[in-house]
Amino acid sequence: MALVSVLSAKGSPGATTTAMLTAALWPRPVLLLDADPAGGDVGVRWPAASGGPLDGDRGLLPLLTQARRGLSPQQLLEQAQPAAGGTPVVCGLASPEQAAAAAALWPAVAVAADELTGPGGEGVDVVVDAGRVTARSVHLPLLRASAVVVLVLRADVSGVLHARERLRSLADVLRRADGLRPRVGVVVVDGPRAADAGQAAAAVLDAGDWAEDLGRLPLDPAGARVFSASPVSRPERTALVRAGRPLVATLAAAASGELRRVA
Ligand SMILES: Nc1ncnc2c1ncn2[C@@H]1O[C@H](COP(=O)(O)OP(=O)(O)O)[C@@H](O)[C@H]1O
Ligand SMILES: [Mg+2]
Repeated sequence: MALVSVLSAKGSPGATTTAMLTAALWPRPVLLLDADPAGGDVGVRWPAASGGPLDGDRGLLPLLTQARRGLSPQQLLEQAQPAAGGTPVVCGLASPEQAAAAAALWPAVAVAADELTGPGGEGVDVVVDAGRVTARSVHLPLLRASAVVVLVLRADVSGVLHARERLRSLADVLRRADGLRPRVGVVVVDGPRAADAGQAAAAVLDAGDWAEDLGRLPLDPAGARVFSASPVSRPERTALVRAGRPLVATLAAAASGELRRVA
């Protein structure tokens, strides 16, 4: 059982959409944790299973005050609420100011999520929407506790350049005290030409052999609307969900694999 963190380097390539898709299609019991330090998007975008909006007052916000004493896996579970389709979601903070002031929150949430997924935990995997991540991000403890870190990028020049640079700068900070680090990979959101995605992945990964190519997602506005208040008929037929299935199978297999020992 494991944490899988989804992040971006710059811009808005689709990290939140990829995280919601991953959680919705995950083959085991799962929790989607919105940990975007710029302010959570999942709660404002994905409706609740009841049909109304998700309750933004439930989620990381109530944990802010509790975190100084540490957090248990149960405290994290208590803040989850079902989104449309049934996936349990822990909503994120409202603003970057809140996230930056929450110094005690991130390590405490990382410990709680790790215990939730670990031996003796509830057998629940956690998909984290980590938003934009840099080597100075406040929520690096959550990334370090992950089994898999997934960088989402678009198949264009700036997407590739920023992804390369970010992987380089994260290499050191993802290393844990025990000498292990998460598996790190990229998911390319295709442009209109499919060949571009393969080239983009190759260009990012030739920066080093420590990151892997985890797969592709198509640019599919109809599919992206599955995670919004506008109804989509037969979501399972959208290109995004169809491409999501093999991608999520790859991520789930990677999440049950071994951590990498850093030389
Ligand atoms: N695969 C995709 N196909 C079409 N639109 C997408 C896709 N992924 C994301 N989007 C759209 O792009 C915008 C940004 O996506 P989002 O997931 O919020 O990105 P990020 O979390 O990286 O900022 C949203 O309007 C979203 O619906
Ligand atoms: Mg986002």
